[in-house]
Amino acid sequence: MKILLTGATGQVGWELSRTLMPLGEVIAVNRSQADLADLQALRTIVKRHKPDIIVNPAAYTAVDKAETERELAFLINAEAPGVLAEEAKKTGAFLVHYSTDYVFDGTKTTPYTEEDKTNPVNVYGQSKLAGEQAIQSVADDYIILRTSWVYASRGSNFLKTIMRLAGEREELKIVADQTGSPTWARLIAETTAHVVRQTILERQADKFKSGVYHLTSSGETSWHGFAQKIVAIAREQQAELKIKAIHPIPAIEYPVPAKRPENSRMSVQRLEQQFGLTMPSWDNALSLCMQEL
Ligand SMILES: NC(=O)c1ccc[n+]([C@@H]2O[C@H](COP(=O)([O-])OP(=O)(O)OC[C@H]3O[C@@H](n4cnc5c(N)ncnc54)[C@H](OP(=O)(O)O)[C@@H]3O)[C@@H](O)[C@H]2O)c1
Repeated sequence: MKILLTGATGQVGWELSRTLMPLGEVIAVNRSQADLADLQALRTIVKRHKPDIIVNPAAYTAVDKAETERELAFLINAEAPGVLAEEAKKTGAFLVHYSTDYVFDGTKTTPYTEEDKTNPVNVYGQSKLAGEQAIQSVADDYIILRTSWVYASRGSNFLKTIMRLAGEREELKIVADQTGSPTWARLIAETTAHVVRQTILERQADKFKSGVYHLTSSGETSWHGFAQKIVAIAREQQAELKIKAIHPIPAIEYPVPAKRPENSRMSVQRLEQQFGLTMPSWDNALSLCMQEL
């Protein structure tokens, strides 16, 4: 099996370049080797490698900046996945793509399922939804994995930011009225490997069905709860911290360019049933990740 992996330097891409290894030859490319903003070059790369599987974690992920870089966000998050889907179809490959909780508006009061209506409230979410739709309108065989609140022991993310701030400041104010499930990039990559393995077998048996799945940790918290847990685990690990208090605030007191959904919770039931998996709780995964910090 030949697996073409984009965005190999990102949080999820870096982990995927490791977890996909036992499944075949992984051709891991970064932005300088495969720029998703250069659609023609992207086509050429797929044609050159003729992969059996394309895994695409590369994305424009700057949620606030996307508000003023709409065109670029749509080029990378919508047009490029559409091109990958077209090329995958031509070579007979299947495409694994990632999307986000931000395709929803967050007004539902229970976790979102894959059947729920999408209605993104920011440009990033709109561009990611357009990417999903581009793939669905073109690809024969695809899996779209929607995830949320991604962190890792490397890269820039909420975990790394809180660890830095907790070492520098005595008090922090963190948004407490947005809920979701923090998800470790490694969990996404390991789950993807299971999904890819089962997909290979199902395709061989002519039993594969394309689909959208929610892939997050289980359980839920707020950004405030997430920050509190990070600090609690860091203390258990004897980290030297200045922080004395983390105050909960409403999102309205932390103005940012892009609006975020209040409810980012997504049900993982479909993924668990289809692939025989049990998603770990977010705090359990966080604790394991933080052992690497
Ligand atoms: N991060 C989150 O909280 C979150 C939440 C929900 C869904 N997701 C989705 O999950 C997937 C993985 O996200 P992540 O957290 O791993 O993101 P990330 O850490 O920001 O990594 C994104 C990767 O995409 C690459 N990239 C950006 N523009 C590119 C371009 N024009 N050409 C080629 N590569 C480009 C980046 O390359 P450089 O290193 O060169 O910049 C980086 O390797 C994405 O589809 C994202 O939309 C993420």
